[in-house]
Order: sequence, then structure tokens, then C-alpha cells
Amino acid sequence: MENRSNFGSKLGVILASAGSAVGLGNVWRFPTEVGNNGGAAFILIYLLCVVFVGVPVMVSEFLIGRHTHANTISAYQKLAPGTWWRYEGVAGVFIAFLILSYYVVISGWTLYYFVLSLTGYFAQGKDYVACFSSFVSHPVQPIVYAAIFMLMTHLVISKGVESGIERFSKVMMPMLLFIIGILVVCSFGMPGASDGLSFLLRPDFSKVTTNVVLSAMGQAFFSLSLAMGCLCTYASYFGSDTRLVKTAFSVSAIDTVVAILSGFIIFPAVFSVADVEVNAGPGLVFITLPNVFYLAFSHMPVVGYVFSGLFYVLLLLAALTSAMSLHESVTAYVHESMHLSRRRSAALVSVSCMLLGVGCSLSFGPWSDYTVFGMTMFDLFDFVASKIIMPLGGIVICLFVGWKLDRKLVRDELTNGGTLRFRFFRFYLFLVRWAVPLAIALIFIHELLG
Ligand code: PFF
Repeated sequence: MENRSNFGSKLGVILASAGSAVGLGNVWRFPTEVGNNGGAAFILIYLLCVVFVGVPVMVSEFLIGRHTHANTISAYQKLAPGTWWRYEGVAGVFIAFLILSYYVVISGWTLYYFVLSLTGYFAQGKDYVACFSSFVSHPVQPIVYAAIFMLMTHLVISKGVESGIERFSKVMMPMLLFIIGILVVCSFGMPGASDGLSFLLRPDFSKVTTNVVLSAMGQAFFSLSLAMGCLCTYASYFGSDTRLVKTAFSVSAIDTVVAILSGFIIFPAVFSVADVEVNAGPGLVFITLPNVFYLAFSHMPVVGYVFSGLFYVLLLLAALTSAMSLHESVTAYVHESMHLSRRRSAALVSVSCMLLGVGCSLSFGPWSDYTVFGMTMFDLFDFVASKIIMPLGGIVICLFVGWKLDRKLVRDELTNGGTLRFRFFRFYLFLVRWAVPLAIALIFIHELLG
């Protein structure tokens, strides 16, 4: 058996895992959720979900991956051979594949908008609603951009763990954080920025309903890349001295800070332009912000140019590091279990995923009438992944670690063979055995009934 690669440094471990977590979800989804769901009140609930649900699930995934040093499917097979638990590994890899197929489509849009920003398109004052809908419904253009994005991801993954994922994360993540810093300064400098900040930060507890708590939990899951096999796969490349609990806290902290700073970038800028409507989801970054960029251009052309260009680079970097982890989750399995070379495995995953991506892209245009349960292919993939498999996976991972795995194995992994102290071990066990599965089950039932 060929030697398995590892991440070469602690910084590499943290930046690669944070790269998986920090993605499109942080930049466009989190700020809108905060704005719509009670500002600082939502942020508070989100933080509680990250600490009490997100971190325990992440630690559990880390320990499964690091203990087995195997891809996600083999990891469960090794720990519980011949039992039903192994289907959790299968679900994780399958769902990473599904998510990647639609994630590349939106990432392709981001690439296109980055190119537009370079050409000074946002200085021209167009009808950005029409521009967005004609682009996404075009039968060829968005597919070409998605394919270029997939190629970029492919090139990193086929280089391997240390010289691909780790090396690129070490360059891209600091760049991403630096760009965020510049954009926050640009945004705070816009006239009327303080209105945006108070919209974002005013705690409005009257808006906090069960639904809001559930959205906070769903957002934490997606944002932290939980239950997709990604973090389990990355952890299989961790060294024996990696501190799992500390790493989980660091990754969650970076992810949360980026999400909050994205709000600091978007809302002050949007509020500096009184007549622009605040859209949710993709509309926010592909329609609302182009209007903001146009107005910034008309007052301060240099700021407009820098702001729009850097914003889409930021999105692109965030999307790329997340797509890398989704790709790796599947490639590691194909490479190790089907005995194909890493390059061939990566190529197989890229091509097959891109074929599904074509369908997802067409579902915004020529195929928009083909629906299953009233959902287009894109919506269906998103629904199955984020609303069904992600919560169920979270429950299974916790129950697996809490009830199935030997307690000594769990303690040894979390304390690196007894060399570290972990004072909250009992509390962690309580969370993964009872509290987290129950909390997720509540969301799941609520989402299905609602
Ligand atoms: N965490 C990424 C985001 O916030 O956009 C998305 C993601 C990546 C979800 C990897 C799941 C995953 F396994």
C-alpha cells in the first residue's frame, strides 16, 4: 500500500479546514440571514449553535478521520465493519459529489462577475436584474464558466494533498482575509455606512422565533461544512500531534469571523445607496451589489473599481477552497478504493461532476420546466443535500461517536493518547450522545413538516 499523504504543518491543517468552511455560504447567506432575523440577536443564537452543535460535530468528524487515516467510506468500514454505520460514509461522499455539482455552477457565475468587474462593466449602469437572469438562463455561457472553475479545482486536487490543497490554501486563505480587511475599510468609508451597521447589529429579539433558531442551526451546518465527508477526509491527513478540539475551535472561529465581516462589507455599502433593495441569496451579490458598485463608480471611480474587483475575487477564493474540499472527499475515495491513480481519480470526479453541473446550470434556463416535486434539478440537489442528508448525517455521526465507538478510543483521539488534558470530555459525550442529535432531529422534523 502506497504511503498516505499528510498535511505538512499545523498552519496548513487550519487553513485547509477553514478554507473548506469559509465559502459562498459565509459571504452571501449569513449577512442576509442576520439582516432578516433580528440582527445581533441572530448572531448570538448563531454563536450558540456553532459552539454547542457545530464544534461537537466537527470534533467527531475529525476524530473519525484522524483515527482511521482513510477516506470517509473506508473510515466507517474500518471502525464498524459489516454494519449499517458504514452507509454514513457512503452518504457523505455521495452528497459531497452532489453539492459540488451545483456549487460549481454558482462559482462559475462568480467567475463571470469577476471578469465583468475587470472590464469596468459596473461603471456603466445597466439593468442588473435583466443582466443576471439572461446570463444564468443562457444555455452555454454559464456552463463554460462553471467548467473553467471546475478545471481550476481539478488542477489543485490533482496535485495532491501537500503540494495541492495545503500549498494553495496557505496562499489563498491569507489573501482572502487580507481582501476582507480592505473591503471592510472601503465599505465603512461609504457615506451612510453607519445605517447599514445599525441594521445589521441592532438586536431585535422580537424577531426570534423557532424558525429563526432553526435557520441559525442550518446555516451553522452548511457554513462549517459538516456531515459531507469533507472534514473527515481532511482529518485523515492530520498528523498524530494535531489537537483536534483546538483545531475545531480555530476553524469555527475563522468561519464565524469571516461571516460577520462579510456582513460588515455588504450592509454599510448597500445602505449607503438608499434606493437599492436588499435582496436575499444570489440576488444580493449578483443584483444588489452591482447597483451599489455602479453608484460607487459614479462618485469615486477608483473605489468602485477596487471594490467590485476585489469583492468577486473574495467570493472566488472562498468558493474555490470549499470546492476543493468537496472534490477531495470524493477523489480520496475513488483513488483509494478503486485503485486509480490520483490524477485519474481527480479527472473522473471532475468530468462526472461537471456533467451533472451541466444539468444544474440548464435548470435555470432551457430545463427550468423539468421539475421533480416542483423542484428544478438545482433546487432538488440543494434540498436533498442541505435539508435531508446534512441533518441526518449530523445525527448519525454523533450517535456513532457517542454510542458505537469505544470510549477509550474517543478519549485517546481527543487527548492525543493522553498527552493533552480535555476537561470537558464528559460534557462532550453528553452533547454527542443526547443534546446534539435531539437538537438536529427537531430541525429536521420541523423542516419536513414546515
Ligand atoms: N461551507 C461552505 C460554504 O459556507 O459555502 C459550503 C460547503 C463546503 C458545504 C463543503 C459543505 C461542504 F462539505
